[in-house]
Amino acid sequence: MGVSVCLASGKGGSGKSTICANLGVAISQLGYKTAIVDADVEGSSMGLIFGIDFKVPTIHEYLSGSAGVEDIVLKADGVELAIGSVRVEDLKDLNIELLKNFIKELMEKYDVVLVDAPSGLGIDAITAISACDAVLLVATPDILSVTNSLKTKVVAERLGKKVLGLVLNRVGSAYDIPTKYIEDIMGIKVIGEVAEDEEVKKSLVEGKVLLMRNPSSKAAKDIFKLAEKLVLEYP
Ligand SMILES: Nc1ncnc2c1ncn2[C@@H]1O[C@H](COP(=O)(O)OP(=O)(O)O)[C@@H](O)[C@H]1O
Ligand SMILES: [Mg+2]
Repeated sequence: MGVSVCLASGKGGSGKSTICANLGVAISQLGYKTAIVDADVEGSSMGLIFGIDFKVPTIHEYLSGSAGVEDIVLKADGVELAIGSVRVEDLKDLNIELLKNFIKELMEKYDVVLVDAPSGLGIDAITAISACDAVLLVATPDILSVTNSLKTKVVAERLGKKVLGLVLNRVGSAYDIPTKYIEDIMGIKVIGEVAEDEEVKKSLVEGKVLLMRNPSSKAAKDIFKLAEKLVLEYP
C-alpha cells in the first residue's frame, strides 16, 4: 500500500500544479513508483504541464462513470498520470466523491500518489484532501498566500490529515516574508523553498516538465532537493 499526498493551498497561483508535476518526476527518479492525479477538475493543468494531447481520456471520464482507472492512467516522464480535461462540456455530471475510490485504487499499485488539489476550501478541494493520507501545503512568501494556506492547514488537521509541511514557492524577492515568520504564523515547518525561475514559464510554453527540460535550473534543483527530503523523512 502506497502513500497519498495532496498538494493544497489557500490561493491559486501558488504553484501547486507546477510543484506536483515536477515533484512526481523527481520522486520517480529516486526509484519510487509514482502516480500523479489532477484533482483540480475545474482548473486542470497537468495535461498542459506535461504537454499531453487532450484527445486522451481524462479523469473527468472516470468521475462521470464512463471510464475505469486503467483507461485513463497514462505514462509520461517516468510517472503515471491521470490528467484532467480542459473542456467546459466535461464539467457536467461529475461525481467528485468517486475521486476517493480512484486514489484508493492507485494506492494499491503505486508507492506514492501525488494529488494536485484545487485552491481554497470548496467541495472539490475538501474531497481531494479527504481522499489522501497527508497534505503538503504550497504558498508564496506573501501575507495573502500564507494567511489563506493557514486555513487549509487547519481544515486538513481537522480532517485528521498529516500535514507534512509548507513549501514556499517563487522565493527570491526583497519583499518576501522571512521563512521564520512564516513558520511562526503557520505553526508548521517550511520543508522546501523553490526559487522564482523564468525556466518554469519557458517549460510551460514548450509543454515540457521543467525537471526533464532543464534539470540544472534553480527551481528544478530546489524541487529535486524537496523530493529527496520527503522520501528520507517519510520513507
Ligand atoms: N517557481 C516558479 N517560478 C516562476 N513561475 C512559476 C513558479 N512556480 C509556478 N510558476 C508559474 O505560476 C503560475 C501558477 O502556477 P501553478 O502551478 O498553476 O499554481 P497553482 O496550481 O497553485 O494554481 C504558472 O504560470 C506557473 O508557470
Ligand atoms: Mg493548479
